[in-house]
Amino acid sequence: MDLEGVPETLLWNLHQRAFEARQPRPVLDDPKAIELVERIDYPFEETFGTPSPLLAQGQALRVRTFDDAVRAFLQEHPRGTVVTLAEGLETQFWRVDNGRAHWLCVEPPKTAKVRRALLPDRERRRTPARSALDLSWRDEVDPSHGVLVTAQGLLMYLRPAEVRHLIAGCAEAFPCGALVFDAVPRWFSERTRRGRMKTAQGYLAPPMSWGLVAGEVPKIRTAHPAVTEVRELPLPRGRGAYFGVVRPVLRRLPGARNVRPTMTVLARFGPTAQIARRALWVERRLRTVKRRGRR
Ligand SMILES: C[S@@+](CC[C@H](N)C(=O)[O-])C[C@H]1O[C@@H](n2cnc3c(N)ncnc32)[C@H](O)[C@@H]1O
Repeated sequence: MDLEGVPETLLWNLHQRAFEARQPRPVLDDPKAIELVERIDYPFEETFGTPSPLLAQGQALRVRTFDDAVRAFLQEHPRGTVVTLAEGLETQFWRVDNGRAHWLCVEPPKTAKVRRALLPDRERRRTPARSALDLSWRDEVDPSHGVLVTAQGLLMYLRPAEVRHLIAGCAEAFPCGALVFDAVPRWFSERTRRGRMKTAQGYLAPPMSWGLVAGEVPKIRTAHPAVTEVRELPLPRGRGAYFGVVRPVLRRLPGARNVRPTMTVLARFGPTAQIARRALWVERRLRTVKRRGRR
């Protein structure tokens, strides 16, 4: 396992999920993550240390937010396609698959090779070796039974223009589809850029270029006229005082919601007619703004 930089973070996430799955009352049931950690020849403990129970639980609850979104999609679209951008060694398929849906796990070539070696492709689950930013992966998606795109642990590592390009690319290609992604606030990305996110073992988290706070979520609609709805998805309730009581109310407190270290967002794409109406509205608004500017 010879990974570094952003690709290596897939092992960090896996380590945290397996740690939480081993707890007596885990918030995430993930035996496949435990199996992978046992199979992979990599010094997890020496590199990342023993996960903090609080951080591991937080990570697992965030994963559950994604799982819940995928389950809700599969209820409505049992034969739909789930596109997981930057899937790393996520084991979501084994947690939520319904036996009928199709899965496309988009990973850059080096990490796609790692994933395929450990979790070989099957007829309904394939791993195209490509950057998520190379939008040609969209050609491999059959949109006829519905499409849900997820990007867990990816957007924060992209530049702002790349984030817009990716959201717009999904919105344009999948009318009536949706994208679920997670984001970190700017103070958090700033810390990673200053090299302040370091484990006791000396592992340095790679710099994150893109940050978004809860108050800015509506701005996501400006990425493309087809983005018709954007909202934050709540974190499920977890164990203990923080994740059981405090954290669920933080998103409702104006002062606190913008400083939470992560949030998960759902962006829905409208049907073609609605998109055309919105495009017209955006064009008119732009014309008005320009006219006012000239005066
Ligand atoms: C923090 S890990 C997240 C992995 C997985 N989603 C999870 O939550 O366990 C970041 C992932 O982004 C992938 N990645 C980085 N740049 C990418 C890109 N341009 N396109 C697709 N995946 C990318 C890395 O290979 C790695 O798997």
